[in-house]
Amino acid sequence: MAATKDSDDLDSRFYKPADAFFPAYNHIGLTFDDVTLATLYSEVLPRETQLDTRLAEGLHLNIPIISSDMDTVTESRMAIGMALNGGLGLIHYNMPERDQLSEVSRVKNHVHGLIQEPIKATPDQFIGDVLNLIEKKHFAFSTFPVVDAQGRLVGLLPGHVVKARYAKRKVAEAQTPRDQVQTVNKKELGRDPIAKADKFFTEHPGIHKLLVVDDQDRLHGLFTMSDVERITQERNAQFKPARDVHFRLVCGAAVSATRNSFGELDRERILAHVGGLVERGVDAVAVSTAHGHSKGVGDTVKVLRDAFPKLPLIAGNVTSAAGVEYLADAGANVIKVGQGPGSICTTRIVAGVGIPQLTALYVASRAAQKKRVTIVADGGITKSGDIVKALTLAEAVICGGLFAGCPEAPGEVMEFSGKRYKQYRGMGSFAAMKAGSAARYGHTSDASRKVAPEGVEALKEVTGTVDRVLTQLIGGIQSGMGYLGAANLTQLREKARFIRVSPAGQREAAPHDVVELKAGN
Ligand code: XMP
Repeated sequence: MAATKDSDDLDSRFYKPADAFFPAYNHIGLTFDDVTLATLYSEVLPRETQLDTRLAEGLHLNIPIISSDMDTVTESRMAIGMALNGGLGLIHYNMPERDQLSEVSRVKNHVHGLIQEPIKATPDQFIGDVLNLIEKKHFAFSTFPVVDAQGRLVGLLPGHVVKARYAKRKVAEAQTPRDQVQTVNKKELGRDPIAKADKFFTEHPGIHKLLVVDDQDRLHGLFTMSDVERITQERNAQFKPARDVHFRLVCGAAVSATRNSFGELDRERILAHVGGLVERGVDAVAVSTAHGHSKGVGDTVKVLRDAFPKLPLIAGNVTSAAGVEYLADAGANVIKVGQGPGSICTTRIVAGVGIPQLTALYVASRAAQKKRVTIVADGGITKSGDIVKALTLAEAVICGGLFAGCPEAPGEVMEFSGKRYKQYRGMGSFAAMKAGSAARYGHTSDASRKVAPEGVEALKEVTGTVDRVLTQLIGGIQSGMGYLGAANLTQLREKARFIRVSPAGQREAAPHDVVELKAGN
């Protein structure tokens, strides 16, 4: 229902839109917990809200969430998980350049539901060898395609013969022969391989595996009926995978402003590397550094913009209007905002520099509007409510810590005192800089040189899968939008009204005066 003039006046004296609120606090840096959003009359049901976001021409996401280009957060597995949920993963650059190219290829070639590198058996193996492998690797399956030395399909070892009683028999004796194995040529998979496999399983009762081969009968993958059924059910989900025009999952990759041994920008190397990424179908390249308002980053963006006029370029990080303007003028489409808010960052402690994130986002967002570029809020997000606040000013958020405990993040699980953890480290931590990210912080990775780490090495408790983490985050964002009557992210930015929260107000916002039995998130 429309408000009366009196109630409108009263509300607007307390709850201010961004352009009134932030300039009124131009003497103090504010971050997520310093403010809260006021509710508004709503006819919008949270589950009906739309979360799609356009970051640049050719870079559209179905949810406004990006996983950070950090070596303990995003490699191909995380990027696949993000894109399948409608978001984007930025593959980090703390690895040899050719490895980064392969990681991007893995994402771009990923066919959901198709196991592209199935575990294989060979005809001369003993069934006992296969049993040992299953035990050693904790495989939860026991059916294996059988291939010869050239990778050609010669049969299928069905689970019902992979038994200890047959341990001394050769795979060749027990396998289903090639002419009885159901296959599809990879050329026939088309734009919707799952639909193809689904149809096949319906038409062939009792067959649960479909193998993919090429013209030379070399094995290229395996569909299982249970995976296909799960995915067909998931297709009704509200947020579709983020795909490019060729129906491949989207993927981003980070690069640094690499210098040669004379300390000059290594244009040839940067161009060759990004050329390789583009060839593999990368959807966006992020020039990722701690100080984006710097000559090296601006020059790198210019070089890339000239060479790849249509490639969506993300660049950062900055926290000032001048920084946004500088990178936009250099040719960046998307600007990363955030200096020091990250959960593993120590930039503000070590360098005494950085701006609390909401103030930085406000300043950057207004400069970005003028330059017709978009901004992403990078770092400091610990809960879905922070994302809602960030999205009142930015087109998307980048999260590291929230995803570092997922099974899709690189790294092994460690156990301490009965709890399970994964490593999470700042790209400016000593260990990560030694592994290659020193350029991001303006240092060399030469351990003999004095460097000042700007990040810590830490642990994150193991969480659920990226699907689960995103389900929680998306639920929270949709709930926030429902409270504001915002049907989409543009309306969220237009409608948001802020008020400053006192320290007592912050305490009031979290569970208090109870013994918490179960965390609410
Ligand atoms: P969250 O809070 O999501 O932050 O864990 C991830 C973001 O933090 C930035 N980052 C760093 N910043 N020192 C810093 O000052 C570091 O060592 C460091 N490593 C990552 C980066 O922007 C990331 O997306």
